[in-house]
Amino acid sequence: MILYDNRLISREEAHIDVEDRAYQFGDGVYEMIRVYHGRSFYMDEHLARLERSAREIRLELPYPIAELKQLLHELIRRNQLEEGNIYIQVSRGTAPRYHGFPDQARPLTIAYVQHAKRPLAELNHGIRAITTDDIRWLRCDIKSLNLLGAVLAKQTAIDHGAKEAILIRDGVVTEGSSTNIFIIKDGTLYTHPTNHLILNGITRQVVLKLADECEIPFSETAFSKEELDQADEVFLSSTTMEICPIVEIDNKPVNQGVPGPITKQLQEAFVNEIK
Ligand code: PDD
Repeated sequence: MILYDNRLISREEAHIDVEDRAYQFGDGVYEMIRVYHGRSFYMDEHLARLERSAREIRLELPYPIAELKQLLHELIRRNQLEEGNIYIQVSRGTAPRYHGFPDQARPLTIAYVQHAKRPLAELNHGIRAITTDDIRWLRCDIKSLNLLGAVLAKQTAIDHGAKEAILIRDGVVTEGSSTNIFIIKDGTLYTHPTNHLILNGITRQVVLKLADECEIPFSETAFSKEELDQADEVFLSSTTMEICPIVEIDNKPVNQGVPGPITKQLQEAFVNEIK
């Protein structure tokens, strides 16, 4: 079953028009929510961000977020989702193709689930990353359906045998193509501050909460490519990748190519969160 507007229907029944604005313009917003043990993880925070993203692109959600929340819980239940992801997107709707907002279109909400296990191999051993230019637009705080900058960066990483692309804008590390990036230097955790250059990841916020609880000093301060190269530990965070060590960047090992102690401490704290 999938969510289509405000109804649960079979995937085969769903119909997307060729003039849906998500399809033609990437004109819409989305969220990805993780489910552990049949329960959603930080759903309220994700839905608050969906509301914010919609507001920032002047898209009025077609029905209240409380109703969407109830439908998503029903979606989890009907699909017997124990461990996996919920993808939600809201398009501005269908109208004759014209860049300006349509007068009458009803925004279309769709959501579906993916059954997916935790990426244990990556979490235990870490991943490789590359650095590449951040060529995205200047409203990366909006979780918009326009993902071509992210798609091209991720593919560059894959082409180099890596799992993530770390994006560099004006010499500064912003975030990953679909993740937030953290470094540890001399015992302090650093990540880019929240502004228009990054998505304020929900997992990022969990990481900062856990750092606080573990009494790991942290600072939301941008760091340069050089500081990344000289970091003691590097990791990424996202809904699907959780807290994942980065053990190699541009073919050079980080922390001798193994996950570092502070990263592991935060990973352990995270595992306690999802129990
Ligand atoms: N990506 N930065 C970007 C550019 C992202 O696309 C994402 C999420 C994050 C991490 O945000 P969160 O912790 O809320 O998942 C940071 C999702 C998972 C995706 O596009 O699949």
